[in-house]
Amino acid sequence: MRCRAVFRVSQSRNRAPLLLQPQASRLYSQLQSKHERSTFGIAFDIDGVVLRGRVPIGGSPQALRRLYGESGALKVPFIFLTNGGGIPESRRAIELSDLLGVYILPSQVVQGHSSFKTLLKRYENELTIATGKGEPDLVMSEYGFKKVLSLDEYASYFENIDPVSQYKMWTTKWESSKCSCPKNLVPSFNITSDRVKAAFVVSDPVDWGRDIQVLCDILSSGGLPGDENGQQPPLYFAADDLEYQAAFPSERLGMGAFRIALESVFNRIHCNALDCVIFGKPNPFVFKNAEAILRQLRSSCDDNYINNGNNGSHPFKTLYMIGDNPLVDIKGAKQAGHPWFSILTRTGVFRGKDNHAEFPADLVVDTVEEAVDYILKKESAC
Ligand code: G3P
Ligand code: MG
Repeated sequence: MRCRAVFRVSQSRNRAPLLLQPQASRLYSQLQSKHERSTFGIAFDIDGVVLRGRVPIGGSPQALRRLYGESGALKVPFIFLTNGGGIPESRRAIELSDLLGVYILPSQVVQGHSSFKTLLKRYENELTIATGKGEPDLVMSEYGFKKVLSLDEYASYFENIDPVSQYKMWTTKWESSKCSCPKNLVPSFNITSDRVKAAFVVSDPVDWGRDIQVLCDILSSGGLPGDENGQQPPLYFAADDLEYQAAFPSERLGMGAFRIALESVFNRIHCNALDCVIFGKPNPFVFKNAEAILRQLRSSCDDNYINNGNNGSHPFKTLYMIGDNPLVDIKGAKQAGHPWFSILTRTGVFRGKDNHAEFPADLVVDTVEEAVDYILKKESAC
């Protein structure tokens, strides 16, 4: 296989009442005084640790509440570090705040596709396509990509590109919005002559058959379905999870499974092997980036304190990664090394009695609540 992971560094339906919805600056101006500034931070995986589908698990709302003071101010810098996605970080933050009953900032949400921002310079004004559940094109256009289309929309401009579409009993979001918004029918550029310069798998694809067909068309033709063979445009995956924990009792096939399916088909119909770049955990880049975000989160508080001496730039002693997937969360934290400390929960992909054999975590617990309890006890004893 020629797919590779990247190693680059850059940077309401309330179930529980929101604790507070203060201005971000006020929230962080209250984040610990100079003397009690946090020397540790936490990265929470979402699926299988904090949520199953849309349901909080493992005592996650109570656990998260312990990271805030009585006034609602954040006491411990933490982020969500998920390979999932499909909606912009700002929207995910609102959704998580609603589900978990604490105030979450967009900057506290790092999704698999968040790293696609690092590709903006290269593709800002190029025709690109994005696929996956949710609103992949909206995600990319919020990052600044100006000529991005969802695969749903792109496919709709090529008659008969999906030979089994008439047997499909569903309507895509694109088709419904087309009816209510006729002015937006055709993009301002020429879809039938412009070549696609890159394809992005932003989140778990919905219609695997159609997506495999259209991606094979784009990738084997050099970016223009129906054209002769051409050089494969770059293909980017937000993550490569083979399986993940959703609402169903056993694991579900993830983006990694889709990648294998696409690759197997492409390599059978095309002379050159599929080339792709994979982002997301366990890539060490993601953990470096998470560390930088956690530092920023802490220093936006420190900025509000004059003469604090270190301006929040001192390194963390420990960063905790709480995850449910040994091959993704634990492997990633271990590869990232100091200051990462990995905690494996039994609420998702991993259900073992003991530690995982290949990627043993630094600590195995039943739930995220237990993990947070361990961290707070350990840190207060330091
Ligand atoms: O699609 C979601 C999945 O791949 C993993 O999400 O939160 O367990 O990293 P998470
Ligand atoms: Mg998970």
